[in-house]
Amino acid sequence: MELQVQATPVKRLCKTHNTITVNGMYPGPTLEVNNGDTLVVKVTNKARYNVTIHWHGVRQMRTAWADGPEFVTQCPIRPGSTYTYRFTIQGQEGTLWWHAHSSWLRATVYGALIIRPRPGDSYPFPKPKRETPLLLGEWWDANPIDVVRQATRSGAAPNVSNAYTINGQPGDLYNCSKKDIIIVPVNSGETNLLRIINSALNQQLFFKIANHKLTVVGADASYLKPFTTSVLMLGPGQTTDVLITADQPPAKYYIAARAYASAQGAPFDNTTTTAILEYETAPCLAKCTSTKPVMPSLPTFNDTATATAFTKSLRSPRKVDVPTEIDENLFITVGLGLKNCPRGASRRNCQGPNGTRFTASMNNVSFVLPSKFSLLQVHQQRIPGVFTSDLPPNPPRKFDYTGNVSRLLRQPARGTRVYKLKYGSRVQIVLQGTSIFTAENHPIHLHGYDFYIIAEGFGNFNPNKDTAKFNLIDPPLRNTASVPVGGWTVIRFVADNPGVWLMHCHLDVHITWGLATAFLVENGVGELQTLEPPPADLPLC
Ligand code: C2O
Repeated sequence: MELQVQATPVKRLCKTHNTITVNGMYPGPTLEVNNGDTLVVKVTNKARYNVTIHWHGVRQMRTAWADGPEFVTQCPIRPGSTYTYRFTIQGQEGTLWWHAHSSWLRATVYGALIIRPRPGDSYPFPKPKRETPLLLGEWWDANPIDVVRQATRSGAAPNVSNAYTINGQPGDLYNCSKKDIIIVPVNSGETNLLRIINSALNQQLFFKIANHKLTVVGADASYLKPFTTSVLMLGPGQTTDVLITADQPPAKYYIAARAYASAQGAPFDNTTTTAILEYETAPCLAKCTSTKPVMPSLPTFNDTATATAFTKSLRSPRKVDVPTEIDENLFITVGLGLKNCPRGASRRNCQGPNGTRFTASMNNVSFVLPSKFSLLQVHQQRIPGVFTSDLPPNPPRKFDYTGNVSRLLRQPARGTRVYKLKYGSRVQIVLQGTSIFTAENHPIHLHGYDFYIIAEGFGNFNPNKDTAKFNLIDPPLRNTASVPVGGWTVIRFVADNPGVWLMHCHLDVHITWGLATAFLVENGVGELQTLEPPPADLPLC
C-alpha cells in the first residue's frame, strides 16, 4: 500500500484551497484489511510540511515504531522523504482510522481503516448487505496549520472550523455544497452496516438518521452487546459501528451530525452537516428526486443527558477479563487553565481573557514534545536530559476539582514528564476533569492500548463511594474515553505492550495547549515481551 501526502486543490464552501491530501483524495483512501493481516504502508511526503501517520486504535503489539505520533515514536517524515509503517492487526475487528499526527494536518489527512474478521470467520451479527464508512470531519476556509500557528502566536483560542463534514462534504445546509452531498443508497428491507468515525479536530458530535433506528454493534474495533438507539454521540477519535434496516417508506432521509459542545463559552459551529440515505427501490426513484429528505430532530448542543445516556449503554458482549487487582492506581486531572502573558508580550500577541494565554494539563503538567528526538528513541538509547519519568501520579485530592480550584492548578508547569510502567502491571486511571478555567469534555485517547471503561460520573471522583459503581463484568473496551463535562471516568488495562505511548485529549486544540502525557512501558522478559528494534528507515530528527 502506498500513501502519498501532497498538496491538492480542493473546493469546498465556494472556495478552492491547496489542501494537504493523501493520494489526491480528501478524505484519504479507505484501507480494508482482515484481522491477522500484516500491513506494509509506504508513506511518501510530497508536501511542504513535516508529516507522520498514526493508525488510531491499532494495538501495535511490539511495533511501537509504527505508531506514528511525531516526536513520540518517530521523528517526522521530512518533505521529500518516505517511511514504511509495518504492523500486524492482532485480535481487533471493526472500524479504526488513520490520520496525520503532526500539527493540525489531520484536518484533511485521514481515512478509514476497516478490519474484517479473518477469512472464514464471520461477524457476530447477520452479514450486512452493504457496508458504508461515514467519516465526520471539520473543514476550515484556511490552511489548518496557519489556523493553529496564528492561535499559538497570539495566545487566543484558534478559529473554529467553517463546516462539519460527512466524507469530506459539508452537505446541503452549507453554501455551494448542495450538489456534492453524500448519498448512501439502500434497498427496502435490507440491513446495512455503517462505520461511523469522528475524525473532527475539536468537536464531539451527535449523529442521527431521520426515522431510522440504529443498532450499535461495535466501537473502536471491539464488538459490543447490540442495543438500539436513535442517536449516537462520538468524541473525536471514536468510532461506532451500527446496523440500520431500511424499513421505512421509500424516500430520502437525512443523515445528520451536529456539535455536542457542552463547554461553557467555548465557541463551536452550530450548523448541521448532512448526507442522504436514499432508497433505491423502484417506486421511489421517480418521487425521491423531487421530495425533500426528512430531517431528524437532533439533540441541542448542550444535551449532556443524551450524551451520557449513550455512553452508559455500551457493554461488552459477554463477561470480560477486566483486571480485578491493581498495581498502579493513578489519578490524573485533565483540564484547561490560563497562564499570564510571557514577559514582554504585547497586547496583540497575548489574547486570552484578561491578558492571559490558554493552557491545558494533566496533573498540572502541560506536556511539551521534544524536538530533536522521539521519546521512544530516547528511551531505547538511554539519551539523558530529554524527558523525566516523574509525572506526579496523585495530585492532592483534597480540593474540589470541578468547583473552586486551588490557584496552584491555574499555572501548570510546562515539561516533558512521563510515567513509567513495569511490563504487565495492572493499571487503573481515574481521569478527573477539572473546571479550573472552564469545564469541558475531554475525549482521552491512549495510544497502543485498548482499555475498559469501568465507570464514569459527574463532580469529583470519590474513592470511598464511586468504586461501588465499577462495572467489572462487561464494560466496553475502547481506545478513547469521553470524560464527561465536569466529571470523571475510570479506565483499566494491563501494560502488556512495551514502548512509549502518548495519552492525550483528542481535541487538537487541547493537545496544542499541552493536554497530554506519555507512558513509558518497559520491556518484559524474553522476546515476546520486548519491543522490536527500530526499522532501518525510521526517520531521525
Ligand atoms: Cu488519533 Cu494521538 O491520536
